[in-house]
Amino acid sequence: MNVVFIGCGNMGTALLRASLSISDIDDIYVIEKRKEQRDRLKEMDSRLVLSDKIEVLPENSLVIFAVKPQDMEAAVREAFPYINNAKDIAILSIAAGITVDYYKKQLSNDIPIFRVMPNTPGLVSAGVSGVFCSEKDKEFWPVAHKIISGLGEVVEVKEEKLIDVITAVSGSGPAYFFLLTEMLAEYAVQNGLTKGQADLLARRTCYGAGILLERFGLSPKELREMVTSKKGTTEAAIKTMLKSGIRDILFSGFSAAEKRAKELSL
Ligand SMILES: NC(=O)c1ccc[n+]([C@@H]2O[C@H](COP(=O)([O-])OP(=O)(O)OC[C@H]3O[C@@H](n4cnc5c(N)ncnc54)[C@H](OP(=O)(O)O)[C@@H]3O)[C@@H](O)[C@H]2O)c1
Repeated sequence: MNVVFIGCGNMGTALLRASLSISDIDDIYVIEKRKEQRDRLKEMDSRLVLSDKIEVLPENSLVIFAVKPQDMEAAVREAFPYINNAKDIAILSIAAGITVDYYKKQLSNDIPIFRVMPNTPGLVSAGVSGVFCSEKDKEFWPVAHKIISGLGEVVEVKEEKLIDVITAVSGSGPAYFFLLTEMLAEYAVQNGLTKGQADLLARRTCYGAGILLERFGLSPKELREMVTSKKGTTEAAIKTMLKSGIRDILFSGFSAAEKRAKELSL
Protein backbone atom coordinates (compact mmCIF):
# COMPACT_ATOMS: atom_id res chain seq x y z
CA MET A 1 0.00 0.00 0.00
CA ASN A 2 1.07 3.60 -0.67
CA VAL A 3 0.35 6.70 1.37
CA VAL A 4 -0.16 10.12 -0.22
CA PHE A 5 -0.12 13.25 1.95
CA ILE A 6 -1.99 16.29 0.67
CA GLY A 7 -0.44 19.00 2.88
CA CYS A 8 2.20 18.04 5.40
CA GLY A 9 2.74 20.77 8.01
CA ASN A 10 2.64 20.32 11.79
CA MET A 11 0.09 17.54 12.11
CA GLY A 12 0.92 15.99 8.75
CA THR A 13 4.56 15.60 9.81
CA ALA A 14 3.50 13.77 12.99
CA LEU A 15 1.42 11.35 10.86
CA LEU A 16 4.26 11.05 8.35
CA ARG A 17 6.70 10.09 11.11
CA ALA A 18 4.30 7.32 12.16
CA SER A 19 3.87 6.18 8.53
CA LEU A 20 7.63 5.85 8.05
CA SER A 21 7.79 3.12 10.67
CA ILE A 22 4.91 0.99 9.32
CA SER A 23 6.12 -2.01 7.33
CA ASP A 24 2.83 -2.47 5.36
CA ILE A 25 3.50 0.85 3.59
CA ASP A 26 5.49 0.80 0.32
CA ASP A 27 5.93 4.34 -1.03
CA ILE A 28 5.08 7.65 0.61
CA TYR A 29 4.21 10.63 -1.61
CA VAL A 30 3.96 14.11 -0.13
CA ILE A 31 2.20 16.98 -1.89
CA GLU A 32 3.21 20.08 0.03
CA LYS A 33 2.98 23.68 -1.23
CA ARG A 34 5.74 25.17 0.96
CA LYS A 35 9.24 24.63 -0.43
CA GLU A 36 11.01 25.03 2.96
CA GLN A 37 8.72 22.37 4.38
CA ARG A 38 9.43 20.03 1.45
CA ASP A 39 13.18 20.53 2.03
CA ARG A 40 12.75 19.76 5.75
CA LEU A 41 10.81 16.58 4.94
CA LYS A 42 13.42 15.44 2.40
CA GLU A 43 16.02 15.72 5.16
CA MET A 44 13.81 13.65 7.45
CA ASP A 45 13.77 10.73 4.98
CA SER A 46 15.29 10.66 1.52
CA ARG A 47 12.86 7.93 0.32
CA LEU A 48 9.92 10.39 0.35
CA VAL A 49 8.54 11.38 -3.06
CA LEU A 50 7.93 15.13 -2.71
CA SER A 51 6.08 17.50 -5.01
CA ASP A 52 4.25 20.84 -4.86
CA LYS A 53 1.25 19.53 -6.79
CA ILE A 54 -0.39 16.23 -7.45
CA GLU A 55 0.56 14.78 -10.83
CA VAL A 56 0.02 11.09 -10.29
CA LEU A 57 -1.91 8.93 -7.83
CA PRO A 58 -0.77 5.31 -7.70
CA GLU A 59 -3.43 2.69 -7.19
CA ASN A 60 -3.78 1.17 -3.73
CA SER A 61 -3.19 4.49 -1.93
CA LEU A 62 -4.37 5.90 1.37
CA VAL A 63 -4.75 9.65 0.71
CA ILE A 64 -4.25 11.77 3.83
CA PHE A 65 -5.72 15.28 3.74
CA ALA A 66 -3.78 17.37 6.28
CA VAL A 67 -4.30 20.95 5.06
CA LYS A 68 -6.06 23.72 7.01
CA PRO A 69 -9.85 23.69 6.57
CA GLN A 70 -9.69 26.96 4.56
CA ASP A 71 -7.36 25.25 2.04
CA MET A 72 -9.57 22.18 1.66
CA GLU A 73 -11.59 23.40 -1.29
CA ALA A 74 -8.48 23.99 -3.42
CA ALA A 75 -6.88 20.74 -2.22
CA VAL A 76 -9.99 18.74 -3.07
CA ARG A 77 -10.29 20.44 -6.48
CA GLU A 78 -6.70 19.46 -7.29
CA ALA A 79 -6.79 15.90 -5.91
CA PHE A 80 -10.25 14.58 -6.73
CA PRO A 81 -9.81 14.09 -10.50
CA TYR A 82 -6.94 11.72 -9.59
CA ILE A 83 -8.84 10.09 -6.72
CA ASN A 84 -11.83 9.44 -8.99
CA ASN A 85 -9.62 7.87 -11.64
CA ALA A 86 -7.43 5.65 -9.48
CA LYS A 87 -8.22 2.13 -8.26
CA ASP A 88 -8.29 1.02 -4.66
CA ILE A 89 -8.21 4.31 -2.75
CA ALA A 90 -9.20 5.40 0.77
CA ILE A 91 -9.18 8.84 2.43
CA LEU A 92 -7.96 9.78 5.88
CA SER A 93 -8.83 13.36 6.82
CA ILE A 94 -7.72 15.41 9.82
CA ALA A 95 -9.16 18.75 8.65
CA ALA A 96 -11.45 20.14 11.35
CA GLY A 97 -15.08 20.42 10.27
CA ILE A 98 -14.70 18.58 6.96
CA THR A 99 -17.38 15.89 7.01
CA VAL A 100 -17.49 12.50 5.33
CA ASP A 101 -20.37 13.82 3.20
CA TYR A 102 -18.20 16.67 1.91
CA TYR A 103 -15.85 14.09 0.40
CA LYS A 104 -18.62 11.72 -0.69
CA LYS A 105 -20.29 14.47 -2.73
CA GLN A 106 -17.20 14.75 -4.94
CA LEU A 107 -16.51 11.02 -5.26
CA SER A 108 -17.63 8.89 -8.17
CA ASN A 109 -17.04 5.66 -6.18
CA ASP A 110 -17.85 4.64 -2.64
CA ILE A 111 -14.48 4.43 -0.89
CA PRO A 112 -13.56 4.19 2.82
CA ILE A 113 -13.24 7.58 4.53
CA PHE A 114 -11.67 7.93 7.99
CA ARG A 115 -12.42 11.28 9.63
CA VAL A 116 -9.99 12.05 12.44
CA MET A 117 -10.04 14.79 15.09
CA PRO A 118 -6.51 14.89 16.54
CA ASN A 119 -5.21 17.21 19.24
CA THR A 120 -1.93 19.09 19.59
CA PRO A 121 -0.32 16.72 22.16
CA GLY A 122 -0.29 14.36 19.16
CA LEU A 123 2.75 16.34 18.00
CA VAL A 124 4.67 14.58 20.80
CA SER A 125 2.76 11.27 20.48
CA ALA A 126 0.85 12.08 23.69
CA GLY A 127 -2.40 12.97 21.98
CA VAL A 128 -5.82 11.40 21.71
CA SER A 129 -7.70 11.34 18.41
CA GLY A 130 -11.39 10.77 17.76
CA VAL A 131 -12.17 8.76 14.62
CA PHE A 132 -15.32 8.18 12.62
CA CYS A 133 -15.08 5.66 9.77
CA SER A 134 -17.53 5.58 6.87
CA GLU A 135 -16.62 1.88 6.72
CA LYS A 136 -13.92 -0.25 8.33
CA ASP A 137 -12.49 -2.17 5.41
CA LYS A 138 -9.92 -4.93 5.98
CA GLU A 139 -7.20 -3.37 3.82
CA PHE A 140 -6.94 0.34 4.62
CA TRP A 141 -8.40 0.61 8.12
CA PRO A 142 -5.66 -1.39 9.94
CA VAL A 143 -2.97 0.80 8.33
CA ALA A 144 -4.95 4.03 8.97
CA HIS A 145 -5.34 2.98 12.61
CA LYS A 146 -1.59 2.41 12.95
CA ILE A 147 -0.87 5.84 11.44
CA ILE A 148 -3.35 7.63 13.74
CA SER A 149 -1.89 5.71 16.71
CA GLY A 150 1.39 7.51 16.00
CA LEU A 151 -0.28 10.60 17.53
CA GLY A 152 -1.30 8.72 20.70
CA GLU A 153 -4.52 7.01 21.78
CA VAL A 154 -7.51 6.49 19.47
CA VAL A 155 -11.22 6.74 20.35
CA GLU A 156 -13.57 5.39 17.68
CA VAL A 157 -17.16 6.64 17.41
CA LYS A 158 -20.03 5.13 15.47
CA GLU A 159 -21.87 8.42 14.82
CA GLU A 160 -20.16 11.28 13.00
CA LYS A 161 -21.93 13.96 15.08
CA LEU A 162 -19.87 12.79 18.08
CA ILE A 163 -16.78 14.22 16.35
CA ASP A 164 -18.17 17.67 17.31
CA VAL A 165 -18.27 16.60 20.97
CA ILE A 166 -14.71 15.26 20.65
CA THR A 167 -13.66 18.59 19.11
CA ALA A 168 -15.05 20.40 22.17
CA VAL A 169 -13.45 17.98 24.65
CA SER A 170 -10.04 16.83 23.37
CA GLY A 171 -9.58 18.94 20.22
CA SER A 172 -9.94 22.28 22.03
CA GLY A 173 -9.17 20.74 25.45
CA PRO A 174 -5.44 21.52 25.52
CA ALA A 175 -6.33 25.24 25.29
CA TYR A 176 -8.56 25.02 28.40
CA PHE A 177 -5.67 23.44 30.23
CA PHE A 178 -3.25 26.16 29.04
CA LEU A 179 -5.74 28.83 30.13
CA LEU A 180 -5.69 27.34 33.63
CA THR A 181 -1.86 27.34 33.50
CA GLU A 182 -1.88 31.03 32.46
CA MET A 183 -4.31 31.93 35.25
CA LEU A 184 -2.28 30.16 37.94
CA ALA A 185 0.80 32.11 36.86
CA GLU A 186 -1.16 35.38 36.66
CA TYR A 187 -2.41 34.92 40.23
CA ALA A 188 1.11 34.12 41.46
CA VAL A 189 2.49 37.33 39.88
CA GLN A 190 -0.39 39.44 41.25
CA ASN A 191 0.47 38.13 44.71
CA GLY A 192 4.19 38.78 44.81
CA LEU A 193 6.07 36.10 42.86
CA THR A 194 8.31 37.02 39.93
CA LYS A 195 7.14 36.19 36.41
CA GLY A 196 9.83 33.49 36.12
CA GLN A 197 8.86 31.87 39.41
CA ALA A 198 5.15 32.08 38.58
CA ASP A 199 5.67 30.53 35.15
CA LEU A 200 7.73 27.65 36.57
CA LEU A 201 5.22 26.96 39.36
CA ALA A 202 2.23 26.97 36.99
CA ARG A 203 3.88 24.92 34.22
CA ARG A 204 5.31 22.23 36.51
CA THR A 205 2.05 21.96 38.44
CA CYS A 206 0.02 21.29 35.28
CA TYR A 207 2.69 19.07 33.72
CA GLY A 208 3.13 17.03 36.91
CA ALA A 209 -0.62 16.67 37.40
CA GLY A 210 -0.85 15.33 33.82
CA ILE A 211 1.88 12.78 34.55
CA LEU A 212 -0.01 11.60 37.66
CA LEU A 213 -3.14 11.11 35.53
CA GLU A 214 -1.13 8.99 33.12
CA ARG A 215 0.95 6.95 35.56
CA PHE A 216 -0.96 6.47 38.81
CA GLY A 217 -3.92 4.49 37.48
CA LEU A 218 -6.31 6.57 39.59
CA SER A 219 -9.34 8.55 38.41
CA PRO A 220 -9.11 12.37 38.26
CA LYS A 221 -11.54 12.46 41.22
CA GLU A 222 -9.31 10.14 43.29
CA LEU A 223 -6.23 12.19 42.45
CA ARG A 224 -8.11 15.38 43.40
CA GLU A 225 -9.15 13.82 46.70
CA MET A 226 -5.50 12.91 47.40
CA VAL A 227 -4.68 16.64 47.42
CA THR A 228 -7.83 17.71 49.24
CA SER A 229 -7.62 17.30 53.01
CA LYS A 230 -10.65 18.06 55.20
CA LYS A 231 -11.00 21.76 55.99
CA GLY A 232 -7.70 22.40 54.16
CA THR A 233 -6.63 24.93 51.53
CA THR A 234 -7.59 22.89 48.44
CA GLU A 235 -11.03 22.17 49.88
CA ALA A 236 -11.51 25.91 50.47
CA ALA A 237 -10.54 26.65 46.85
CA ILE A 238 -12.70 23.94 45.28
CA LYS A 239 -15.76 24.70 47.42
CA THR A 240 -15.49 28.37 46.43
CA MET A 241 -15.10 27.53 42.74
CA LEU A 242 -18.08 25.15 42.74
CA LYS A 243 -20.24 27.64 44.67
CA SER A 244 -19.30 30.35 42.15
CA GLY A 245 -20.58 28.13 39.32
CA ILE A 246 -17.37 26.82 37.77
CA ARG A 247 -19.19 23.72 36.49
CA ASP A 248 -21.79 25.80 34.60
CA ILE A 249 -19.11 28.16 33.27
CA LEU A 250 -16.98 25.31 31.92
CA PHE A 251 -19.92 23.35 30.53
CA SER A 252 -21.19 26.43 28.69
CA GLY A 253 -17.69 26.86 27.20
CA PHE A 254 -17.55 23.21 26.09
CA SER A 255 -21.03 23.52 24.63
CA ALA A 256 -20.04 26.71 22.73
CA ALA A 257 -17.11 24.81 21.20
CA GLU A 258 -19.40 21.94 20.11
CA LYS A 259 -21.92 24.39 18.63
CA ARG A 260 -19.15 26.23 16.75
CA ALA A 261 -17.79 22.92 15.42
CA LYS A 262 -21.26 22.19 13.97
CA GLU A 263 -21.52 25.69 12.46
CA LEU A 264 -18.08 25.42 10.82
CA SER A 265 -18.76 21.97 9.34
CA LEU A 266 -18.73 21.57 5.57
N1 LIG B 1 -7.67 19.37 16.90
C1 LIG B 1 -6.53 20.01 16.82
O1 LIG B 1 -6.00 20.52 17.80
C2 LIG B 1 -5.81 20.09 15.57
C3 LIG B 1 -4.52 20.43 15.73
C4 LIG B 1 -3.81 20.58 14.60
C5 LIG B 1 -4.36 20.37 13.37
N2 LIG B 1 -5.64 20.01 13.23
C6 LIG B 1 -6.15 19.86 11.86
O2 LIG B 1 -5.07 19.41 11.10
C7 LIG B 1 -5.06 20.07 9.84
C8 LIG B 1 -3.63 20.51 9.52
O3 LIG B 1 -3.16 21.48 10.48
P1 LIG B 1 -1.63 21.89 10.60
O4 LIG B 1 -1.49 22.70 11.82
O5 LIG B 1 -0.78 20.68 10.42
O6 LIG B 1 -1.49 22.84 9.29
P2 LIG B 1 -0.18 23.43 8.62
O7 LIG B 1 1.00 23.30 9.52
O8 LIG B 1 -0.53 24.77 8.06
O9 LIG B 1 0.08 22.41 7.41
C9 LIG B 1 -0.66 22.40 6.22
C10 LIG B 1 0.35 22.46 5.06
O10 LIG B 1 -0.36 22.19 3.86
C11 LIG B 1 0.09 23.10 2.85
N3 LIG B 1 -0.97 23.22 1.84
C12 LIG B 1 -2.01 24.07 1.78
N4 LIG B 1 -2.78 23.81 0.69
C13 LIG B 1 -2.22 22.74 0.08
C14 LIG B 1 -2.55 21.98 -1.07
N5 LIG B 1 -3.63 22.28 -1.83
N6 LIG B 1 -1.76 20.95 -1.42
C15 LIG B 1 -0.65 20.65 -0.69
N7 LIG B 1 -0.27 21.35 0.41
C16 LIG B 1 -1.05 22.37 0.79
C17 LIG B 1 0.33 24.37 3.62
O11 LIG B 1 1.15 25.25 2.88
P3 LIG B 1 0.88 26.85 3.04
O12 LIG B 1 1.23 27.21 4.43
O13 LIG B 1 1.80 27.44 2.01
O14 LIG B 1 -0.59 27.06 2.75
C18 LIG B 1 0.99 23.85 4.89
O15 LIG B 1 2.37 23.70 4.74
C19 LIG B 1 -6.02 21.24 9.92
O16 LIG B 1 -7.07 21.03 9.00
C20 LIG B 1 -6.55 21.22 11.34
O17 LIG B 1 -7.94 21.39 11.35
C21 LIG B 1 -6.38 19.86 14.33
